[in-house]
Amino acid sequence: MNSDLLRKVYSSESFKKNGHQLIDQLGDHIAQAFDQNRGKVINWKEPSASLEFWRDYLNHGDSELLLQEALKRSTHLHHPKYIAHQVAPAAPITVLTSMISAILNNGTAVYEMGMITNPMERIITELLSEKIGYGVQSSGFLTSGGTLANLTALLTARKAKVSIDIWNQGHSKPLGIIVSEEAHYCVERAAKIMGLGEQGIIKIPVKADFSMDTSLLEKRYKEAVLNGIEVFAIVGSAPSTATGVFDDLKTIGVFAQKYKLWYHVDAAHGGALLFSSKYKGLLSGISASDSVVIDGHKMMMMPGITTALVYRDGRTSNATFSQKADYLLEDSVDADWYNSGKRTFECTKNMMALHWFSLLKTYGEDVFDAYVTTLFDRGIEFGKIVEENPEFELAVRPMSNILCFRYVNDHVDEDALNTININIRRKLLEDGEFYIVQTKLRGVHYLRCTIMNPFTTAEHFKHLLAKILILKN
Ligand SMILES: Cc1ncc(COP(=O)(O)O)c(C=O)c1O
Repeated sequence: MNSDLLRKVYSSESFKKNGHQLIDQLGDHIAQAFDQNRGKVINWKEPSASLEFWRDYLNHGDSELLLQEALKRSTHLHHPKYIAHQVAPAAPITVLTSMISAILNNGTAVYEMGMITNPMERIITELLSEKIGYGVQSSGFLTSGGTLANLTALLTARKAKVSIDIWNQGHSKPLGIIVSEEAHYCVERAAKIMGLGEQGIIKIPVKADFSMDTSLLEKRYKEAVLNGIEVFAIVGSAPSTATGVFDDLKTIGVFAQKYKLWYHVDAAHGGALLFSSKYKGLLSGISASDSVVIDGHKMMMMPGITTALVYRDGRTSNATFSQKADYLLEDSVDADWYNSGKRTFECTKNMMALHWFSLLKTYGEDVFDAYVTTLFDRGIEFGKIVEENPEFELAVRPMSNILCFRYVNDHVDEDALNTININIRRKLLEDGEFYIVQTKLRGVHYLRCTIMNPFTTAEHFKHLLAKILILKN
């Protein structure tokens, strides 16, 4: 009886039959959203209603209809009216590589379980390292998301820079990192996980354009040192999340060098610009960093989650999790490169290298240039449309595909404007034709768009603005 059930689970015949059907249905889903602009982007339901639906479905729903229900009830990233979070519409080829990863399930941490992915990770990160401008000592790996990659890089930084061996001995010494107040919240979370506490996160205010005010670095650093904090790292954002504005990576690099700090660049969003002939200047100065994080599932068309973490000196990353203090620093950069689990948080991870490798092999690196450059062009174009429209106001002129703006009206005060913009966003969500998000900057409520679909056009955007003018009432 049990073995019959298990035979059914592993039936290759039903896998093939269901699989063919599934690919057809998913292909139709892409066509409907991507090519025909049909259907809603989001079919909004209150959380309690969703919970009730799925509870009931588990008991009474038709298993044959699971895919239809999942499609109907999720948010459609392939739709050009999806202009919301920084998550890519996955390139279909990476949906296929996800299937390969799932069926092979080779966990990658040790060479025997990563005989294809460990070499692929090395090749991919060598390419990124070359683009960053690192030398021969560089190395890197792939890991599960920007959050984890930033934490890993900061752990490496602590190991490399702090005078005591905290990994093995613990610490009571106050330690600190420097970061812009606009950096992604995961940097602060990483610092807190590392026990740095509130005082150990030295937040640098931003300038009017929301980039780190580097003129304050000296003063804030010296204050921290006077307060007994051993500052070991500084983080640049390329760009920061809310506004898509890039920090001045060159100036931060010079500062890091002066005080011998570890220089980490969180390029989770903008790292793909390494491939853009038009916009790579925004990353100018990145070659002076010690480590860089680049998300594949943001600006490189891959499914979540896959992140490259690249180090200027790979030996430092060999030491991150080493139980014996620093012994690996004696080793060459090549030491054990094929057992990536020694350098990653994960023990088992999915075969994410397949996404990067298949995109590169099938379309060449120009595919990353085409995608990221188009999206940045669109962000700047949509910014101009907002600027030309007196009923709207930008938070800052966009440098990227992230755009924050709001509806404005001379006759009401700031509080009322905040309420109007909060309501606009809520009505857009309930309507579902477009999906955008929101953010608060210096106490002001903004509508926030990230253009992730290269086929979102100015016409879509103008239609969104027209719709907002109707919904504001
Ligand atoms: C600049 C930046 N860093 C890190 C992250 C976190 O990345 P992940 O969602 O891959 O953990 C984000 C996510 O939006 C981000 O924008």
